[in-house]
Amino acid sequence: MPGIYLDHAATTPLRPEVKEAMAPYLDDRFGNPSSIHAWGREARAALEEARERVAAAVGAARREIIFTGGGTEADNLAVLGRWRVTRRSLGSAAVVCSAVEHKAVLNAVLQAGEEGAQVVILGVDGDGRLELGALEEVLPLRPAVVSVMWGNNEVGTIQPVPEAAGRCRAAGVVFHTDAVQAFGRLRVRVDEVPLDLLSLSAHKLGGPKGIGALYVRAGVQLEPLTHGGGQESGMRPGTQNVPAAVGFARAAELAVEQLERNVAHYRALRDRLEAGLRERIPDLVVNAGGAPRLPHLLNVSLPGVDQEMVLVSLDLEGVAVSSGSACQSGTVEPSAVLMAMGRAQPGEASLRLSLGLATTAAEIERALEIVPRVVSRVRAVAETS
Ligand SMILES: Cc1ncc(COP(=O)(O)O)c(C=O)c1O
Repeated sequence: MPGIYLDHAATTPLRPEVKEAMAPYLDDRFGNPSSIHAWGREARAALEEARERVAAAVGAARREIIFTGGGTEADNLAVLGRWRVTRRSLGSAAVVCSAVEHKAVLNAVLQAGEEGAQVVILGVDGDGRLELGALEEVLPLRPAVVSVMWGNNEVGTIQPVPEAAGRCRAAGVVFHTDAVQAFGRLRVRVDEVPLDLLSLSAHKLGGPKGIGALYVRAGVQLEPLTHGGGQESGMRPGTQNVPAAVGFARAAELAVEQLERNVAHYRALRDRLEAGLRERIPDLVVNAGGAPRLPHLLNVSLPGVDQEMVLVSLDLEGVAVSSGSACQSGTVEPSAVLMAMGRAQPGEASLRLSLGLATTAAEIERALEIVPRVVSRVRAVAETS
């Protein structure tokens, strides 16, 4: 498709190496991994090898990886699975997350609240960073789970996950992190950080859509959310998607092998985009600009610019960006993340521009011509109406 795709935080194209790895499993290696015949055994071997490779990519053991239908499912299993298993033994408990979590965590936490959990949402500073002091205060409640994302999908803020995980471990509290955006953009290793649960999603890494994983540290108890056969250790029953698992493994492996090179690529282009936009739109505000940020993502606020009009006008000019997380596009509700940061202003547009492996310097230069022109035009329309 012609145009400039700057929405890689929403999803990324399938990498050619991934497509190639998946192809035989979309073709004659179609067996069900639970079948005992040769076709089934072939599928089972591929699935377990994929599990081993995803595990190795994050420093986990093979048995600690549960394949899920994506990041959303992994987040729900972590939060609700912990809450429900704790409720079963203790009757009630607190469930804690930060105010800038993806809806997959936030709404799972609110669902736990509907089911009787004490919900605690931890505030963040103006750059979207969790305050560790606020976390310390809730630990005496002995929550069923504390969930703090590694890297934010709207503004890119990197949370102090090693520190937060360390404090939870010291207090004997189970810690979950959503690493869906962070994995492939920074070092994510479960053997270096004392976390218990970690969510991944393949389609943010050049893998297929509809597959993700939950890392579950050995010994951490969860209650499954769906009921059926015994697949995925009973935690996620249903026939596994073998081609997607194989593709996910390849994407995860490549993300780790090429991490340094990819981060340098993202950072160079993002910094150029940020500097160019600041120069051409002097009143632009870079959100989370004071925090460590994921390298592939830039979020800016534009005073006096209509949100919908700027997104539609950019689309007409062939530039794909978003206003925040993809699940919010199509609505004009202010971003919950920017609100939590105290950065949501009426009459202000916010744009998320996110880069991929195939994004080029020429595309960034072209975007630097188009975005400021569109912003001026949208502002001029607002002034005359
Ligand atoms: C941080 C974060 N968590 C979870 C998800 C959901 O992942 P999936 O699309 O695989 O369900 C996303 C995707 O937008 C995300 O960015």
